[in-house]
Amino acid sequence: MRTPIIAGNWKLNKTSREAIVLVEELKREVADLEGVDIVVCPPFTALESVSEVLTETNIALGAQNVYWADSGAFTGEISTPMLKDFGVQYVIVGHSERRQYFGETNETVNKRLRAALAHGLTPIVCVGENLAEREADQTFAVLQTQVQGSLAGLPAGQAGLTCDEMNKIVVAYEPVWAIGTGKTATPSMAQEAHAFVRGLLAKIFGPDTAQSVRIQYGGSVTPENIAALMSQPDIDGALVGGASLKAASFAAIINAARK
Ligand code: PGA
Repeated sequence: MRTPIIAGNWKLNKTSREAIVLVEELKREVADLEGVDIVVCPPFTALESVSEVLTETNIALGAQNVYWADSGAFTGEISTPMLKDFGVQYVIVGHSERRQYFGETNETVNKRLRAALAHGLTPIVCVGENLAEREADQTFAVLQTQVQGSLAGLPAGQAGLTCDEMNKIVVAYEPVWAIGTGKTATPSMAQEAHAFVRGLLAKIFGPDTAQSVRIQYGGSVTPENIAALMSQPDIDGALVGGASLKAASFAAIINAARK
């Protein structure tokens, strides 16, 4: 049985002070809730203050990106030891905005998630097709390239990573055309993509690992559409952008996702 996981991706929003206000409210709204893993991913500059508010709560801290080297001459980058210093447990890698605007590739996604795993962080690895690819019937081909490419070398026996490590990864299926647009994939469209991704994981890692990996849906998730999405057998939670910026709507999504 997979525990649902709801993560809030705040993107380029909230100063440190604003972040404290948001998590203080969220903390009250979801206090004592069980049956769901809750994560917030503020910008780097708010990690420290949010971390203090979240101490001994049921909300875990995530970051939105990480570089693969621990230290060195990499101006502007942030490493896993720096994130761990603030109690970060999760890190989003390969978000479509990183792929689209910042040159992220499957190869760099792979390096980032390896660094995260090596330091005990849980990577949330994002995959998803854009509108042109969906309209050209390329969705499955794109997902296949992204899953194989970003998780390349992960299968047991290859380059040292094991099924155990794959079990620690969360995958987020986020159709690019649904992100921030208000156009959610229908529950059956999302389920079809999730089942396809799980099938790919089964081919690479075997059925047991594929069954235990959690696959989140992302793209215009709201309190109104979360229940229908969660009712699908292969949807194990959500990566939430816009609706995670208000405590009430994020808490409503969390509540609806509990099993
Ligand atoms: P959205 O963003 O919920 O605002 O569509 C989701 C995401 O980009 O992770």
